Amino acid sequence: MPTLQAERNLVTRNPDPMNARASITPHPERRLRLAASMGRGVAVVATAPERTRNRDTHHPFRFDSYFHYLTGFGEPGSVVVIVAGEAPKSLLFCREKDMEREIWDGFRHGPEGARERFVFDEAYPLAALDEMMPKLLADQPALYADIGGDAAWDSRVIGWLNAVRAQVRTGIVAPGEIRDIRRILDDMRVVKDAHELDTMRRAAAISSEAHKRAMRATKPGRHEYEIEAELLHEFYRHGSRSPAYPSIVASGPNACVLHYVENDRLMQAGDLLLIDAGCELEGYASDITRTFPVSGKFSGAQRDIYELVLAAQAAAIAAVRAGNHWEQPHEAALGVLVQGFIDFGLCTGTRDAVLESGDYRRFYMHRTGHWLGLDVHDAGDYKQDGAWRVLQPGMTLTVEPGCYIRPGDDVPEAFWNIGVRIEDDVVVTADGCEVLTIATPKSVADVEALVGTGP
Ligand code: GLY
Ligand code: MN
Ligand code: MN
Repeated sequence: MPTLQAERNLVTRNPDPMNARASITPHPERRLRLAASMGRGVAVVATAPERTRNRDTHHPFRFDSYFHYLTGFGEPGSVVVIVAGEAPKSLLFCREKDMEREIWDGFRHGPEGARERFVFDEAYPLAALDEMMPKLLADQPALYADIGGDAAWDSRVIGWLNAVRAQVRTGIVAPGEIRDIRRILDDMRVVKDAHELDTMRRAAAISSEAHKRAMRATKPGRHEYEIEAELLHEFYRHGSRSPAYPSIVASGPNACVLHYVENDRLMQAGDLLLIDAGCELEGYASDITRTFPVSGKFSGAQRDIYELVLAAQAAAIAAVRAGNHWEQPHEAALGVLVQGFIDFGLCTGTRDAVLESGDYRRFYMHRTGHWLGLDVHDAGDYKQDGAWRVLQPGMTLTVEPGCYIRPGDDVPEAFWNIGVRIEDDVVVTADGCEVLTIATPKSVADVEALVGTGP
């Protein structure tokens, strides 16, 4: 594999003197792997734009996941360029130092500081990008970019190509191809490296603590948003700066609304509470769902459905192993759920007939998991050449069967408004999987013992 000049110095210093451990940054090695896959050509990836919330207020900045994967650099207004070939090199374009702006908005590394700390071969002010890109693209066979996400960015990229084409009479040749950089990066991101797994383990541990805190705080007479506040408190106090997605705190009938986020209902004795919440830590998502009785004791029907979903989840987790394909955990969960639906009088017919007809979708309408990583629904194809993808060690995914029963004439009334989902995060290993979120209680006994025990 080719070496970057900058690869010689992979150790970056943590600028926080209270936590001055050196850490190995994985990003230069990822850029080298990208360059090796490209062979020849130039890749360009921008971070996310800053977005206005209202008038002078912005949404908190969140970097682009591909950009972060390749750089670890968290400032807005940044672009990374990777020139592949015999001697690949990485260039960062970023905001310049600016004392006035730093007084108002905070520290900026500036190109030279960023180059040294984040291990780039070269770094330039962002303002130099439009002038340099046509030079970097001259005589290159291909441009690798993420086209289609942002019209303004797309036209800027095309503008660089046209600027190279305009020089054709000088003998310069413009890239003949624009290639989708996601084809390479998605395949890299879908298998996590040791640095990513370490971060995801820590994110999962924080979210487990948050769910335990939420269980302890839940009592009839509290609002869903009070429980949401407990989750956020636990995320933030451990260093997470954001949930990975809007927290779902759904009691009673709200548990049957898959993307419920109002979180404003007063919880009552007899309700189930479904919480789907996970923190983002250093860019990486965790994603946990637990369902438990608000008063601390499942009713008979609630318990029946809960135990069914728990059994479906156990069957799905048992099907996560290297060599199995993506769909096997889903098929395992579905087999258990459908048999339960028949046993409880929710579906009629044989298991094969219900699977064939899809009648179970009235009660289980989503899939059993998704890739998990920098994005909660992470990068990576689920099929390759028309076949479900084969699981490999280091792939991370959720396992999250559920059952959602709305009132209906043909549904036994004891089951009305029961919504249950149980979701854990797992890493594929050679002979099974590691459950990252194992510390989150989920047996009936463990859940009942914890709910409502807080102040
Ligand atoms: N929380 C998003 C999901 O479970 O897919
Ligand atoms: Mn999920
Ligand atoms: Mn979830």
